[in-house]
Amino acid sequence: MTVRIAPSILSADLGRLKEQVESVVAGGAEWIHVDVMDGHFVPNLTFGAPLIRALRKLTDRPLDVHLMVERPEQYLDDFAEAGATLFTFHPEATVHVQRHLAAARELGMRAGLALNPSTPVGVLHEVMDDVDLVLVMSVNPGFGGQAYLPQATDKIRRVRGLLDQHGARAVLEVDGGITIETIAEAWGAGADTFVAGTSVFGTADPEQAVRNLVRQCAVRV
Ligand code: DX5
Ligand code: ZN
Repeated sequence: MTVRIAPSILSADLGRLKEQVESVVAGGAEWIHVDVMDGHFVPNLTFGAPLIRALRKLTDRPLDVHLMVERPEQYLDDFAEAGATLFTFHPEATVHVQRHLAAARELGMRAGLALNPSTPVGVLHEVMDDVDLVLVMSVNPGFGGQAYLPQATDKIRRVRGLLDQHGARAVLEVDGGITIETIAEAWGAGADTFVAGTSVFGTADPEQAVRNLVRQCAVRV
């Protein structure tokens, strides 16, 4: 299993977006994580299709779009057209979860389901064949810079067990409070993809910060 880092644009300096994206890609970041918040599902407002479109022109890296919005299905067409690679939403945000996962794939995106700290892992049983990615939240979503919730580690382990049991090849991503202190624990529990905002863009050298995160996992292999 290889380590994949997905730096979160939420913590980037948007006035230097191109430079910031280039630096993390130079450091080995494989995906760019885009946090979409609507002020309803979470108490914060961020980006929409225009930023996805702008990023699409800046990099050929996959755009990992995380929707923390009510009724994410409203944005399926727009985000697909804007160039989103992955379309990940929360099951509490909509009624017809399976339908919208399938729709994301039909539009050429990969479909992801995000689990809040209080969301039971069991929801995955019903949509195992419909997900390309499971996102385990290791903070309650809404803001960057929060501390990793230690109970996330056991949840990652349980999701990994479920995916393996089903022979599912979905990506297992973890989001929130990922730093050089916490990443190895999440990696050891079975996550393969790591969102990192503050620990990358909050440093003077985002390129090196990505390398440092990857290195922490290497020592655990
Ligand atoms: C939190 C977002 C995260 C956030 C992570 O609601 O989903 O992607 O950017 O930020 P850090 O890495 O600072 O916890
Ligand atoms: Zn996120």
